[in-house]
Amino acid sequence: MRKAIIAGNWKMNKTAAEAKELVTALLPKVKNAKCDVVVCVPFTDIALVAELCRGSNIKVGAQNIAWADNGAFTGEISAAMLKEAGAEYVIIGHSERRQYFGETDKSVNARLKQALINGLKPIVCVGEKLEDREGGNTEKVCKTQVVGAFETVSADDAAKTVIAYEPVWAIGTGKTATDEQANETIGYIRSVVKELYGAKIADAMRIQYGGSMNAKNVDSLMAQPEVDGGLIGGASLKADDFAYIVNAAK
Ligand code: 13P
Repeated sequence: MRKAIIAGNWKMNKTAAEAKELVTALLPKVKNAKCDVVVCVPFTDIALVAELCRGSNIKVGAQNIAWADNGAFTGEISAAMLKEAGAEYVIIGHSERRQYFGETDKSVNARLKQALINGLKPIVCVGEKLEDREGGNTEKVCKTQVVGAFETVSADDAAKTVIAYEPVWAIGTGKTATDEQANETIGYIRSVVKELYGAKIADAMRIQYGGSMNAKNVDSLMAQPEVDGGLIGGASLKADDFAYIVNAAK
């Protein structure tokens, strides 16, 4: 049995003052959650949110990590900085990073290795664009992204990683993948992990769905056998909505 993991991806939302308000409201609402609960917050919120969540069941994550330890990498953030601030998780290769900031499978791979070396828990994002799905290339695209992300990553390290399947056409559009599409594609991604690392690691790996997941569709998505949780954008910005999703995940 895989334990569900629900992670909020706040993206570029919430100043520290706003983060405090949201997390303070969220803490009591999710305290009896049966799943792992993570909030991936902007860098400037990490230390504050980690402090607010200390001793609670909410873990804190970042939304990016540099592949280098330190040095001349303007605008990047190191593993040591994230850890000292209190992050445990880190999202890597989100489609918005790929689309707007030149992230590639190669850079995703380098960032993933850096997170793993430093004991941060990675959430690696993969997912096809609308034209890929319409062209029948969903599996090909997801396979390329998974194989690229995990290149030369050991089985032990792969076992520490969460994958988020986020079809790009479902992100922020209000258009969710159907339960069947989510289940089928995540099942396919699991089969790729199995090819790479064997059945034991594939069966234990948690693979989330992301893309307009909300209080209305969480129950039926989470009822799919392959769906091990969610990576939630818009609906993670309101305490009631995110708490509903967390409490629906068993
Ligand atoms: P939305 O839930 O806003 O569609 O965003 C999904 C996402 O990109 C999470 O990483």
